[in-house]
Amino acid sequence: MTLPTSPSNFCLVVDDEPRLRQVLIHLMRNDGFECLEAGDGLDAVAILEKQPVHLVMSDLRMPRMDGKDLLRTVRARWPDTAVVMITAVADVEVAVSCLSMGAMDYLTKPFHLEEVRARVAQALEKRRLILDNRDYQERLEDRVAVQARRLEELFLTSIQSLAETLELKDPYTRGHSVRVSLYSSVIARALGLDLELVQQIELGGHVHDLGKIGVREAVLNKPGPLTSDEYEHIMTHPVLGWRIMAPLLSEAPMALRIVRSHHERFDGRGVPDGLAGTDIPVEARIAACADSLDAMTSGRPYRGAPLTMAEAIHELKANSGSQFDPEIVTAVVRAADDGKLALIPQQLRAPILTPAAPATSIG
Ligand SMILES: [Fe+2]
Ligand SMILES: [Fe+2]
Repeated sequence: MTLPTSPSNFCLVVDDEPRLRQVLIHLMRNDGFECLEAGDGLDAVAILEKQPVHLVMSDLRMPRMDGKDLLRTVRARWPDTAVVMITAVADVEVAVSCLSMGAMDYLTKPFHLEEVRARVAQALEKRRLILDNRDYQERLEDRVAVQARRLEELFLTSIQSLAETLELKDPYTRGHSVRVSLYSSVIARALGLDLELVQQIELGGHVHDLGKIGVREAVLNKPGPLTSDEYEHIMTHPVLGWRIMAPLLSEAPMALRIVRSHHERFDGRGVPDGLAGTDIPVEARIAACADSLDAMTSGRPYRGAPLTMAEAIHELKANSGSQFDPEIVTAVVRAADDGKLALIPQQLRAPILTPAAPATSIG
């Protein structure tokens, strides 16, 4: 016997009474099914091994392998196949128990053809829904991951827009946020922090000065030294930034702490909270070093010419234990010795300032 090769629309009728098989096969063929037939469970399994089908209609009482054992085998080996049991009235109880084993339905002899049609259609629809649902479940995780990536991209784009808004207002911060982010990342990696923390620290670097959006432009872009009132005003930016960013950074608490605490000093003389030593979150101690490294190597008019990286690191060391955490400074030195700080792209360095440029340079 040559078996068909396509599984779609195939049905296997299993019954030890040839006459009953023929009745069902006739009906199913009239309804457009390709029909295979077997006289018992073992023959049915042999056929299924060669030709998967969508639907098995099986008698309960058969020699060699009965309908229940066939159902068990089909559920285990061909779980996508719908099984409809065929039963005499006396076996209805057994047929009902087959439903709990995974049969889609049962038919009671003698058949009413319209009933067979309706039950088969129902069983195949149920099978389709089960397969659709499984397919949906399998792809759900992928969809959620794609959606999460899109949301993250959208979030980062919003952050980028905010950063660009600040750069329009204060051109001399151009590139500063990106470089502070990169320096912070290098230092965090030198300290051996986990990637997830490093990523939050990078984000914190990007947004650390966003509070300057709330600083008056006349102060932000003032040429020449600041008065103490102006200095105080500009130093409100960590708290302003923290207020602006708190709703956006609920999932990135380290980044938010960088915004608030990047102007704290190791000796407790910083702002806004006067935290000292390891009371300052480590991410903020990292960002403080990164911020100063960039401020010194970018060069602001009142500071004179920009320092080289080696000179800036020398300054960090000179202020280690007072302004900066000695452990972080050691990590900066190690990163520089390993050539990691030199890896930051030159195009991200601040523009060389002209003497006419404004003097504000609070990092
Ligand atoms: Fe700052
Ligand atoms: Fe800064």
